[in-house]
Amino acid sequence: MAEIIGISAGRKNKVTESVVKAVLEGTGKTYELISLSGKLIRPCEACNGCVKTNRCVIQDDFAPILEKLYQSDGIVFGAPTYWDHMNAKGQVFWERLCFSGRHNAVFPLRGKPGIIVAVDGKGGGQHVIRDLTIYYNDAGIYPAGHITAQGEYACFSCGYGNYCPVGGFAELFPLGTEITKDILPSISNQHPEVCDLTPEIRDLTGEAKKTGAVLSKVVDNLTAASRDSRNGSGKKRDGSRLTE
Ligand SMILES: Cc1cc2nc3c(=O)[nH]c(=O)nc-3n(C[C@H](O)[C@H](O)[C@H](O)COP(=O)(O)O)c2cc1C
Repeated sequence: MAEIIGISAGRKNKVTESVVKAVLEGTGKTYELISLSGKLIRPCEACNGCVKTNRCVIQDDFAPILEKLYQSDGIVFGAPTYWDHMNAKGQVFWERLCFSGRHNAVFPLRGKPGIIVAVDGKGGGQHVIRDLTIYYNDAGIYPAGHITAQGEYACFSCGYGNYCPVGGFAELFPLGTEITKDILPSISNQHPEVCDLTPEIRDLTGEAKKTGAVLSKVVDNLTAASRDSRNGSGKKRDGSRLTE
């Protein structure tokens, strides 16, 4: 069983998934990366079927993923922004997780540390941070940090992209700009619309790995704290005992 579970609600092999993967690599722990792309996850029906067991009864791809989260020591969840919100694939996942977990104040993920990976067309990611923070709070997940990234608008490859006035492309580049690999945002090519950035500044991989390293430390500290509290051997930060 992997120590850290990473979930991407973005497209396969695109920016959300790349950043989630880099965060996972930065933890230095065993991990599993799960893509929600192509998986069937239906919305919460508020059927109350989860009330007695805290397990959602809808039969689709949700339950096996949730079990992996329950067994993990830490979570990395990444999602893109669709229409100023976390995309629907991410929303339905958390709708069901939060509702099935809360009955009778069970909260199976309470205290587990989690990282948010927030992606949008310009790199701010604030809508996903807002939405996921609500779900993390509701589930009792310990907020261990977040990282934002600029993703690639689907308009870059739709065929109308560089001439369509309402697409994401037009928000970044003058209409008619030739679409080359250099202007496609990726984890290692952030903000291609901004001239004169060094390759180091454009590359988010290092920051993502550092975010993973923070998650790893939080996991270790929480594990030590819980072990100490079970043994009644609480220690102060300087190593001395809380009670002699
Ligand atoms: C239906 C749809 C709606 C979107 N809405 C927004 C938006 O409101 N704001 C924004 O900055 N980007 C928006 N985007 C751009 C995505 O956030 C961006 O393409 C992101 O890279 C997708 O993540 P992925 O590449 O990992 O799949 C939208 C994309 C789609 C397909």
